[in-house]
Amino acid sequence: MMESSYIEQQTDIDNAPTTEPERQYYFMEKAKAYVQADSQRLGRPLKACTKTFGCQMNARDSEKLNGILETVGYELTDSEEADFVIYNTCTVRENANNKVYGRLGVLNTLKKQHPHMKIALCGCMMQEPEVVEKLKTSYRFIDLIFGTHNIYKFAELMVSAFEQQDMVIDIWKDTDKIVEDLPVERKYSFKSGVNIMFGCNNFCSYCIVPYVRGRERSREPKDIIGEITRLADDGVVEIMLLGQNVNSYGKNLKDPVTFAQLLTEIEKIDGIERIRFMTSHPKDLSDELIEVMANSKKLCRHLHLPLQSGSSRILEKMNRRYTKEQYLSLVEKIRAAVPEIALTTDIIVGFPGETEEDFEETMDVVRKVGYDSAFTFIYSKRTGTPAAVMEDQVPQDVVKVRFDRLLKEVQEIAAKKAEALTGQTQPILVEEINRQDSSLVTGRLSNNSVVHIPGDASMIGKLVDVTLTECKGFYYYGKPVNYE
Ligand code: 5AD
Ligand code: SF4
Repeated sequence: MMESSYIEQQTDIDNAPTTEPERQYYFMEKAKAYVQADSQRLGRPLKACTKTFGCQMNARDSEKLNGILETVGYELTDSEEADFVIYNTCTVRENANNKVYGRLGVLNTLKKQHPHMKIALCGCMMQEPEVVEKLKTSYRFIDLIFGTHNIYKFAELMVSAFEQQDMVIDIWKDTDKIVEDLPVERKYSFKSGVNIMFGCNNFCSYCIVPYVRGRERSREPKDIIGEITRLADDGVVEIMLLGQNVNSYGKNLKDPVTFAQLLTEIEKIDGIERIRFMTSHPKDLSDELIEVMANSKKLCRHLHLPLQSGSSRILEKMNRRYTKEQYLSLVEKIRAAVPEIALTTDIIVGFPGETEEDFEETMDVVRKVGYDSAFTFIYSKRTGTPAAVMEDQVPQDVVKVRFDRLLKEVQEIAAKKAEALTGQTQPILVEEINRQDSSLVTGRLSNNSVVHIPGDASMIGKLVDVTLTECKGFYYYGKPVNYE
């Protein structure tokens, strides 16, 4: 299912295994030879830089790209002044695309100074044919373009890019393939994302994700459990289970498994102390899952439950398949079972046809639920989605006023919620040295709030009990309790 513009590889692939991941390890060896030769010619190690745009799913994909880059001999760097630069792109809203185009100009200048530099683009934006057309005509300096479905082939595609002058383009429309056991370079030693499923079948009418990430497919429970067990053996204490719609996990497996059953199995893995997951669709959140959450010792007290709109009329046009009332009663049920849970959400303002009354319904849900935090987005028209051709697109000035009103409400409520925890003692997982003040370390509560405490690098990756001494709106200062 490759695009016609795909350039045939000139690599001697006669000896390449046909099974995965063996084939990719073969190409990693080949890439290693090219990297070594270049490194000898330049008399220094080669550097690679991965820039990630978008969601946690992309962040995890970038760790896989980095795993391959390191295996073939690159040193990883944050600076784009590198020998290999790859952008892992997002296309969920228009401004995500614009950011990439803006930065490509900078890369072009760098490549003029360093002609041996290789530039690659991958991720969701590349799954849009118009984007690839634009890159092909106006951004000829790019060496390699691939999409979301064949990211596992990065080593093979990299070898093609080393061996030919022309732009290498390999975009698949969809796939049912999941390739296991490729190298991964984790950003954090003590926490990790774990993909449990890929793609989305929901087709919310504003959303481009189902078109660029393809149909829903779940990993086998044994592969997920195996990966998490290895992560735990490697010192990981917190995992984030990733999927576009984790509540429908396992429905299409040969032996179907529910998300709640998967969680119950993961809970048993020694060494894993905290389990998070993202994202839940309200229409699929089961009573079984609520029960597992209520009884779990390891599941974090945080649920991200995207609302999108509080108006049942707009929700129907969004194809969300729940009403305002159903959403509110789900929240009630969750709160009854897990009273201390923090709820966060995503809200879109200015969906086509949104009236003042519809917007007030959203504000009403925001007040009734009292979110601990909310990501608010201005509706962005995505070509190819049903909403893009809907009538009554809301004028930008109206949207802006509503957006500001919503943001203010969300922030005021969140600040009150946060304040209520001041004085409590709870564990945080310490994640890093504070970026502004190196006498502090920064960690997260079970409910995902950020806390800064006095400390040093030896605390990173540890669960530390802290008393929340001061609330600063959406983060806290605290002090460690009983920490040697
Ligand atoms: N415009 C604005 N926001 C969007 N989202 C998805 N598609 C769009 C769009 N076209 C938001 C939704 C989703 C989050 C990841 O991005 O709120 O939950
Ligand atoms: Fe997009 Fe809806 Fe799927 Fe989320 S559930 S990725 S908003 S289509």
